[in-house]
Amino acid sequence: MAPLIVDTDPGVDDAVAIMLALASPEVELLAVTTVFGNVPLAKTTTNAGRLLALCDRSDVPLGVGAARPLVHQQRERAETWHGGDGLGGRAAELPAPGADPDPRGAVELMAAALRASVEPVTIAPIGPLTNVALLLAVHPELAPRIERIVWMGGALGGGNSTTIAEFNAYSDPEAAHRVLTQADVPVTMVPLDLTMRCPAGPDWLDALADGGPRCAELAQVMAHYRAAYRTRHGRDAVAVHDAVAVLEAIVPGTLKTTAMPLQVACDLGPARGATVAVQGESAPVHVALDADHGAVLGEILERLRRL
Ligand code: BDR
Ligand code: CA
Repeated sequence: MAPLIVDTDPGVDDAVAIMLALASPEVELLAVTTVFGNVPLAKTTTNAGRLLALCDRSDVPLGVGAARPLVHQQRERAETWHGGDGLGGRAAELPAPGADPDPRGAVELMAAALRASVEPVTIAPIGPLTNVALLLAVHPELAPRIERIVWMGGALGGGNSTTIAEFNAYSDPEAAHRVLTQADVPVTMVPLDLTMRCPAGPDWLDALADGGPRCAELAQVMAHYRAAYRTRHGRDAVAVHDAVAVLEAIVPGTLKTTAMPLQVACDLGPARGATVAVQGESAPVHVALDADHGAVLGEILERLRRL
């Protein structure tokens, strides 16, 4: 089993992604680490603990990470999509976390997991990149212990926080810039351009609801998110952004990538948070721009239904 760490801000699509990782026999989930993002850190942490408990996996260490971005305050959260509790109003219906968070916190928990692992570890951040930027800054000696970073975030076309900036990039552009330009490890970026092109529709959601008690609970968690998509986009279909990235982390090569050097706009003007392709010497980011959309959604569903 390949070692994996998921760094997350649950978040409805984060919930799908965490459960996908737990359902996948190819990977050993070494840790789940939390970051501010869709909702404040205290909620993302409790939500992650509840999701582990739902899957009877409270043995997976949970590390509490950054409560705010590196430099500037977060400009917006995403309660409109994820509900005030981050799990579509269903957080309190999930089991309480089955264990306390690890006292070392996210960065040191990740560092310890990297040191202890026999094989290099894949890190899948599916929220703002604050924790990963801190890890790389505090422990540069551990970069060789990272197999690759697979990040859900960024956009080359339209954004969802501003016309050009995607939410995870916009939430901490300085951290995203650090990781995308100087990670010293291979980075794959799974941007909105791809995740918005493979939305899960009613058949997928019905099949999830019908997949046993854990999947049924997840489908309930997704109901508010589904209604928000219907209102905003006029379609009964939801993007499961984070799960697409985590599937690539679990099954490398699922998504087709194009290598390009990127920068993140860190000024305070209208471009803030934009992930921009540049000419340059910096190591290219592998940007996932294409996939067999039906196969990706089918694979995620089939795995979740094993839970
Ligand atoms: C990203 O933003 C968050 O709201 C989602 O959880 C996902 O990680 C999509 O832009
Ligand atoms: Ca997320």
